[in-house]
Amino acid sequence: MKSIVILISGRGSNMEAIVRAAIAGARIGAVISNRADAAGLEFAAAHGIPTAVVDHKAFAGRAAFDAALAEAIDAHRPDLVVLAGFMRVLGDDFVRHYEGRLLNIHPSLLPAFPGLHTHRRALEAGVRVHGATVHFVTPTLDCGPVVIQAVVPVLPGDDEATLAARVLAQEHRIYPQAVRWFAAGRLTLDGGQVRVHGETVAQAGWTVPVVEAPADRAS
Ligand code: GRF
Repeated sequence: MKSIVILISGRGSNMEAIVRAAIAGARIGAVISNRADAAGLEFAAAHGIPTAVVDHKAFAGRAAFDAALAEAIDAHRPDLVVLAGFMRVLGDDFVRHYEGRLLNIHPSLLPAFPGLHTHRRALEAGVRVHGATVHFVTPTLDCGPVVIQAVVPVLPGDDEATLAARVLAQEHRIYPQAVRWFAAGRLTLDGGQVRVHGETVAQAGWTVPVVEAPADRAS
């Protein structure tokens, strides 16, 4: 059984998707937030998952926060740490401590649009496809070896909210999938290369969701 700790900062819908997936071989040891008012904490507690808050504002600097956070995480002896809408930048020491067992989800097709406001920036750039990426975390922000991506179209008439919703639906599909691979012992980071054992990465990682075009869309 693999122990998993999930870090959130807010709504926690990706955490919820992973919990609801009831992944065989995975036990959610804890959900930890840097904000006491993160809505996702309630969902976790209601599902019998231990919760904790490590408030970044209580620490003088990033190193002290990172150390306290790592201590709270390591109390659960995790095989995997899952960043699910965790909105703090983590220092290099922290990232290195969890090398090969730290995943993040980012709402764009990395390496396009790292950072914030990805949906707005995708619309401004006029891209025709957008999506989400699950990746192993490395010291550079929103960067690291890609585990799985989902692609969605950018449709005529999209605004930030409609595009975000279309991407989020796919996040809720690919994040549990990545955790499922990890729990099954199939997902490893090997010399900076992602390996999904039993399938090639190309077969396993490429996923194109079926998204119905609206009826009024010219073909
Ligand atoms: C998601 O879009 C995720 O990709 C990004 O932050 C958002 C978090 O949403 N990193 P939620 O808290 O999982 O609902």
